[in-house]
Amino acid sequence: MELAMQSPTQLEISRRDLLISSAAAVAATSAVPLAAAAQSSGSKMNLSTSIAFSVNGEQRELIVDNRTTLLDALREHLHLTGTKKGCDHGQCGACTVMVDGRRVNSCLTLAVMHEGDEITTIEGLGEPGSLHPMQAAFVKHDGFQCGYCTPGQICSSVAVLEEIKANIPSHVTADLTAPASVTVTEIRERMSGNICRCGAYSNIVDAITEVAGTKA
Ligand code: FES
Ligand code: FES
Repeated sequence: MELAMQSPTQLEISRRDLLISSAAAVAATSAVPLAAAAQSSGSKMNLSTSIAFSVNGEQRELIVDNRTTLLDALREHLHLTGTKKGCDHGQCGACTVMVDGRRVNSCLTLAVMHEGDEITTIEGLGEPGSLHPMQAAFVKHDGFQCGYCTPGQICSSVAVLEEIKANIPSHVTADLTAPASVTVTEIRERMSGNICRCGAYSNIVDAITEVAGTKA
């Protein structure tokens, strides 16, 4: 028998050849349907989308790769670098902006999901000479050290006070401009998604409680 006449080395080579040819066959069969589907559809995958939204009160239009996060659209396309990228995984809050008045981690949401939305970044809250009350309070209370987390902290804290006001039943108060009734514990809990590596937490809470009209 021919097989019996093969040396162990020849047998080993034959077996290796068989494994290689089997792997190639599997790869080829799994690739065929994808290639065939792409050809039969006759269309290229559309990787970019045109979007329009309002950023800090200004109408902006962009063509972005569908995978672009809102954070990267703001920083890389619109050059609004006040919004910071910390973890890029939804864990630090440095990228917090407001979308239609609600805070979001802009690293966790795609830009193409925000067609027609109103986005507010730290640049839209105030500027030197006319700071937003929360920005002024952070300065007054030294609510930062390196400042990297600060834009996210401020956007988040502005939205937090609105959240608290909105949660108060309307029969108690319908005036959303009135000071929010808020405790330090609640502020700490609601701000827990915004991490400060410098540990400026007590000063941040002081700033928020001042704007909220609550005694720290
Ligand atoms: Fe978005 Fe950290 S950069 S949560
Ligand atoms: Fe440095 Fe918060 S001020 S991380």
